[in-house]
Amino acid sequence: MVCVPSCPAESLPMSEPAVLPTGSAHLPTGSAHAKAILVGEHAAVYGHPAIALPMTPLRTVAEVHHSPGPLRLSSGDRSFPVTQLPQRFASVGVATTAALDFFNLPAGDLEVAVRSGIPPQAGLGASAAAAHAIVEAIRAHAQLPLDDASRFELVQSAERVAHGSPSGIDACATRAREPFVFTGGIPAPLPLGAPVWFVVADTGVRASTDEAVAGVRRTVDADPARGSALLARLGDLTRGAVTDLEGGQLTTFGERMTAAQQILTELGVGHAMIDQLITAALGAGAAGAKLTGAGRGGCVIAAATDTGQADVIASAMTEAGAVAVWTVMVGTT
Ligand code: MEV
Repeated sequence: MVCVPSCPAESLPMSEPAVLPTGSAHLPTGSAHAKAILVGEHAAVYGHPAIALPMTPLRTVAEVHHSPGPLRLSSGDRSFPVTQLPQRFASVGVATTAALDFFNLPAGDLEVAVRSGIPPQAGLGASAAAAHAIVEAIRAHAQLPLDDASRFELVQSAERVAHGSPSGIDACATRAREPFVFTGGIPAPLPLGAPVWFVVADTGVRASTDEAVAGVRRTVDADPARGSALLARLGDLTRGAVTDLEGGQLTTFGERMTAAQQILTELGVGHAMIDQLITAALGAGAAGAKLTGAGRGGCVIAAATDTGQADVIASAMTEAGAVAVWTVMVGTT
């Protein structure tokens, strides 16, 4: 069984509860950001450790408006009654109704407007970030406090719709400020011994986390001995990666990233575009590169030792077909 406790504020620096977009300063608002996983995705679902990297500049914002009639949810210029949401909005619908229930607010005369700057189905935590933003906007509308354990559980109720069996890493990472190690449901800060530049590149191939997690489950169930060994190997690579990052050993960390990619491919979550971007990143001098998130498409992450190398890697991945590229620096220079 997967343990899904709260993300204790005392052990993990959390983001500010709300960022008010221009022109809406008077409205109840919530926001959260994207995330990447450095090593350990999929294994995290089975209780093995994984390392998460918040991507704070990529944000989703939600606002609560008065709107007479049934409860509505809007995204961009599209607005739906919450009872008639397209399937792709099912999880944010759950976040909305669960948060209103939690605060004993009536499910009417409101519209929750969501504006996402995070590409969907790209492995960057768009569903968890939207759920967090909505929960916080409704909390602000209720003008009531919300403890971290209840906040986490509200987001997880939406993530169960999006993912089936979420480990909880996305729910933690989309509000965390710093990289952390997530082990058996518990997040712990990860101090870095040296700065690292991570280049995240979007293959443009959209893939469902739910289906990827279910696919890995089928692979593991088909041959439990082999499946468990592959997941345990990912766990070992993550533990080694933690030691590398703490000690500033980027070369061995990068080798572990690339080794993790081989295992993820064996688990069935690779894709030709992922391979293409990894080849480009390694060819441009990346210390390591792998998919990030659920795979089968989505994003690739590569590690670089300095900003100049990160720029070269980003250009190489763009030339190789990436539709968007972001660089995140962590640690102090
Ligand atoms: C998705 O970002 C990470 C997965 O390991 C699923 C999870 O841990 O919930 C694939």
